[in-house]
Amino acid sequence: MPTLIRARLLSFVSEPQAADDHDSYRYEEDGGLLIEDGAIKAFGAFADVQRQAEDGVAVVDHRPHLVLPGFIDSHAHFPQAQIIGSFGEELLDWLNTYTFPAELEFSDEAHARRVAKLFLDELFRHGTTTAALYCSVHPQSAEALFSEAERRNMCVIAGKVMMDRNAPDGLRDTAQQGYDETKALIARWHGKGRLHYAITPRFAITSTYEQMEASKALAGECPDLHIQTHLSENRAEIEFACSLFPEAKDYTDIYERYGLVGPKSLFGHCIHLTDREADALSDAGAVAVFCPTSNFFLGSGLFNYFRYKRRPKSLRIASATDVGAGTNYSMLRTMDEGYKMIALQGEKIPPLLSFWQITRGNAQALGLETRIGTLEPGTDADLVVLDAHATPAMRLRMEKAETLAEELFILQTMGDDRSVVETYVAGKPVKSSLGHG
Ligand code: GUN
Ligand code: ZN
Repeated sequence: MPTLIRARLLSFVSEPQAADDHDSYRYEEDGGLLIEDGAIKAFGAFADVQRQAEDGVAVVDHRPHLVLPGFIDSHAHFPQAQIIGSFGEELLDWLNTYTFPAELEFSDEAHARRVAKLFLDELFRHGTTTAALYCSVHPQSAEALFSEAERRNMCVIAGKVMMDRNAPDGLRDTAQQGYDETKALIARWHGKGRLHYAITPRFAITSTYEQMEASKALAGECPDLHIQTHLSENRAEIEFACSLFPEAKDYTDIYERYGLVGPKSLFGHCIHLTDREADALSDAGAVAVFCPTSNFFLGSGLFNYFRYKRRPKSLRIASATDVGAGTNYSMLRTMDEGYKMIALQGEKIPPLLSFWQITRGNAQALGLETRIGTLEPGTDADLVVLDAHATPAMRLRMEKAETLAEELFILQTMGDDRSVVETYVAGKPVKSSLGHG
């Protein structure tokens, strides 16, 4: 049964080049979005789209709210849902004190299934329809996540982390086991429904030479798969990683040596890159993932969004929550903190660019722009319905807003899950049915 959504519609056609780059988006004040079989069939003025639809099509009226493509979170850890907001440590101590003990619990498949379900519920509650996710080292955690995402017809990129050193008993695989388990998970899940498998060596610190070789083999055998890992998040981490691979020129070179730097590689953080490292990522077309709430929370440093974009060899950038070092599931909260991080470095990210980043921009960074990130006909009907008047404080503020860009900025600065009226995944409403539990 087709559905016709009536609302204000906003979709980006290109990356905004200025704060008022009106050519970068398409906006319909009284818009119509025709959805059938999980995909967008038509996008335009309501009267035009209604004419194309069959008589008697079900109309869902979301006026006066604003419909955008669903938000995309390019890096998060579902097994860390229960350690968000753990006090007091920088990265390496935070991993040992809080993260690894929490991830150990994911050897229990029932626990993994419960948290996978609640985690994906939270994404939907916050308007996020696609995420690139890290599972724990246990293949059953990836099983739990993929089966839950499949059940929801959700586009997800995920992988079990491979880690065979510098981690506690029960949280290490071996090079061979990491390879075999990854291969089995790829065979079982990659390409099924809307699911994508990502080869996921956690970071250089937790992989031996043998495991880096195994990752290289996987990347070589499966060149169309994403690769996700962490890079250059914190000074102590960089020093430790380089001490474990003394033959490497720098941290990035460790991954280069094992064939892990390519156009489908997603590197979480990338805060302290040297020019050589940034050039290497740029030459390979690899993606640096901006995780502002996490970087502030752990005190990791300031990601220089515009320096990376404007350098002669510019970097592809994605943005992400990095839950559970990241402190919120919301991509609105993420870009609000991103705005502040960029402001601390003397620049301002305009709201059009922020909203491009969390929709079409992240879709491009993940190589999924033909499927998600816009409202273009032929793409999957993943949507978020936003209300900039969701709270009394927002209503009061909105009395003074005059432009679309101002409304977006207020949504980013003051909004969170309360501003998400509805989330659609493959054409189906998925937030309203969650309840408040
Ligand atoms: N580096 C290696 N593992 C992790 C992780 O789980 N979170 C963050 N923020 N950095 C990491
Ligand atoms: Zn991470």
